[in-house]
Amino acid sequence: MNHQIAPSILNADFMKLHEVITMLNGSEADLIHLDIMDGVFVPNLSFGFPVISQINAIATKPLDVHLMTVEPERYLERYRDAGANILTVHYEACKDLRQTLKDIKALGMKASVSLKPATDVAVLEPFLEQLDMVLIMTVEPGYGGQSFMEGSYDRLRKLRQMINEAGTGTLIEVDGGVGKQNLVQLRDAGVDVFVIGTSVFRADDPQAMISELKAM
Ligand code: DX5
Ligand code: ZN
Repeated sequence: MNHQIAPSILNADFMKLHEVITMLNGSEADLIHLDIMDGVFVPNLSFGFPVISQINAIATKPLDVHLMTVEPERYLERYRDAGANILTVHYEACKDLRQTLKDIKALGMKASVSLKPATDVAVLEPFLEQLDMVLIMTVEPGYGGQSFMEGSYDRLRKLRQMINEAGTGTLIEVDGGVGKQNLVQLRDAGVDVFVIGTSVFRADDPQAMISELKAM
């Protein structure tokens, strides 16, 4: 399967959100990545249900919603109703990951779990069968525009091997400090889906940058 590009709008111009989503609709982006932060799980706040719903009303690409929040299980139905197609919860934030993944799927969304950089990928072994995707953080979650952590390649290769051995077809997504400079190396390590924030939205022509990233 070809790799997928999931632009993160975290560092887009929020005063021009309509134009941003229209641009993404017309681009080669596969998904639209939305970062939800609660100021508790991470030291930052972003946006919530009303913004997701309004994006969903005009987006023609699936919404890839990344929850950086404590107790994500409290609001699963509301994320679904707001338009989330893929819902990612953090391993470190879940009290009962197995049940949460079941509930996400029962609501009709794809289920994904994210690991912070310090969490060993081996913790996911018992859950692979329930997972459509795994999101590996390649920076500390909370802010866009940080530098990619070079130590991530070993974790990615290990996870790729675990998934191949389990035969579950679980996709691997990376998030943080990703762009033209490391996409090919990451794909070689087994990554399927690339979340890209600043490299897209700080480019002179974000839509052309998405095409370039997709064609690599
Ligand atoms: C960070 C978010 C990312 C962020 C990525 O906690 O999860 O999705 O927007 O931004 P860049 O690509 O700038 O690292
Ligand atoms: Zn993210």
